[in-house]
Amino acid sequence: MAQLEQIAAPGSEWWRSAVIYQIYPRSFADASGDGIGDLPGITSRLDALKDLGVDAIWLSPFMTSPQRDAGYDVADYRDVDPLFGTLADFDEMLAQAHARGIRVIVDLVPNHSSDQHVWFQEALRAAPGSPERARYIFRDGRGTNGELPPNNWESVFGGGMWERITEPDGTPGQWYLHIFDVTQPDFDWTNEEVREEFRSVLRFWLDRGVDGFRVDVAHGMVKEEGLPDYTPVADADSMGGGEENVPYWGQVGVHDIYRDWHEVLAEYDGDRALCGEAWLPTLKQTALWVRPDEMHQTFNFPYLMTKWDAKALGRVIRESLEEFGAVGAPSTWVLSNHDVVRHSTRLALTADNPQGEGIGPNTPDKPDTATGLARGRAATTLMLALPGSAYLYQGEELGLPEAMEIPDEFRQDPTWFRTDHERYGRDGCRVPLPWEADAVAFGFNDTGASWLPQPAEWADYARDVEEGDETSTLSLYKQLLAARRKHGFGSGSLVWEDAGADAVAFRRGDVHVVANLGTKPVALPADATVILRSQPFDGTALPVDTAVWYTTA
Ligand code: NOJ
Repeated sequence: MAQLEQIAAPGSEWWRSAVIYQIYPRSFADASGDGIGDLPGITSRLDALKDLGVDAIWLSPFMTSPQRDAGYDVADYRDVDPLFGTLADFDEMLAQAHARGIRVIVDLVPNHSSDQHVWFQEALRAAPGSPERARYIFRDGRGTNGELPPNNWESVFGGGMWERITEPDGTPGQWYLHIFDVTQPDFDWTNEEVREEFRSVLRFWLDRGVDGFRVDVAHGMVKEEGLPDYTPVADADSMGGGEENVPYWGQVGVHDIYRDWHEVLAEYDGDRALCGEAWLPTLKQTALWVRPDEMHQTFNFPYLMTKWDAKALGRVIRESLEEFGAVGAPSTWVLSNHDVVRHSTRLALTADNPQGEGIGPNTPDKPDTATGLARGRAATTLMLALPGSAYLYQGEELGLPEAMEIPDEFRQDPTWFRTDHERYGRDGCRVPLPWEADAVAFGFNDTGASWLPQPAEWADYARDVEEGDETSTLSLYKQLLAARRKHGFGSGSLVWEDAGADAVAFRRGDVHVVANLGTKPVALPADATVILRSQPFDGTALPVDTAVWYTTA
């Protein structure tokens, strides 16, 4: 039976309905030609994003960093790494984006800094118990001589979560906590000095005119008091998506920080927004991040992690609208980002692939490319009809698959090294974009350099090839974004419809949306007029792995 899903929409702020395009600066466009993308490269390609039809861009970190975790290891929160340009390049990029009506969100990494951050260097030189050490989480070790780590926690990237330092006098010393790489020490967020520093960092970027922040590891900043031992559930997602009561994920203390930041943003004009990266086991918990006085958005990872299964997909959409609606926030929708296997590959996986595992030359049962692309296009066709804000990841508009054959010697993800090559990690979704089929590095730059090798077959996915093809994935994305805008699908409500057990179906006003996730065609009404379809089909039967928007007479 049809059921009305209301999404509470108390305001009309832009972020409630925006389509936000994630730029991974290393791999978007490289103006300097050194093989790593940069800010002038982004500026030079903004017209392509305007043409695509997105409302905003989110930039993964470009701040000063030794790049041990691709920029998620920040050494100076108030400057641009020379790899990516200068602050002046940032200001120019921001001005040019705004001139095109595109808002800009930057990545903030508050859970940890780089070990090269001046505070961490000061902490290493200072004594145990000093104010310098108190900005991070230093503890004495266990065992007779402190030779054992303070607890048994395991790093997200593999190995232990603690590293022992050598004290300034040369003796083996205290241990510091790092949820991620050993070069990423965690801040102690119970320390007011840390809190004050980040208020100031927020203001630094707000004063420059950014429209908001994507907050890295928003669920990890506060640890349970006493740092009790914890053994993760076997095969759980390392970011915490599948586990309850983890002493370093989802602790209630984080909410005070976001209430505080909410007030900082509210001092500024123009609806600045916070979007949290919080991997939590349930949507109910995820919605706590976006209560009215906290963050504005949070990524919908339960939706991202849902397999290609009609029942599961329908359930997660329903639950998302209910749980986010209950706190007055829009749901967000996301299928790909720089940490997961690209969705036009992932949706055809037959085996489990927990977040961060990746796919490489020796992965058994590699997904079929054509099936993956069909499902990827269908999934996006469905997603862009949903009420709320949607995130796209660079390259998905070209239908890029995961790069599955990267030779070992090129790999850079710390996961690959910290797990002794057991997990491939995330390099396969981070390969530089193909812009022009016939150019060196497919037009990523004009020197041919590329920090990760681009697969030769990506010539077929190059933007200039897809521009001229009305059946291309790029053309589909442009049509979807234009139609979504025209119909106002970013806000409002949906009415569920029944198209059989293997389909997800709903109505937005007089537009019907159906995705076929089954193994047989799904019949459409005889008077259906197709507005948009994820791939061409004839007649009134919707093929498998296909989605459609249609009206009836
Ligand atoms: C989440 C980011 O998305 C990921 O790329 C990074 O490695 C970790 N946080 C650590 O900052």
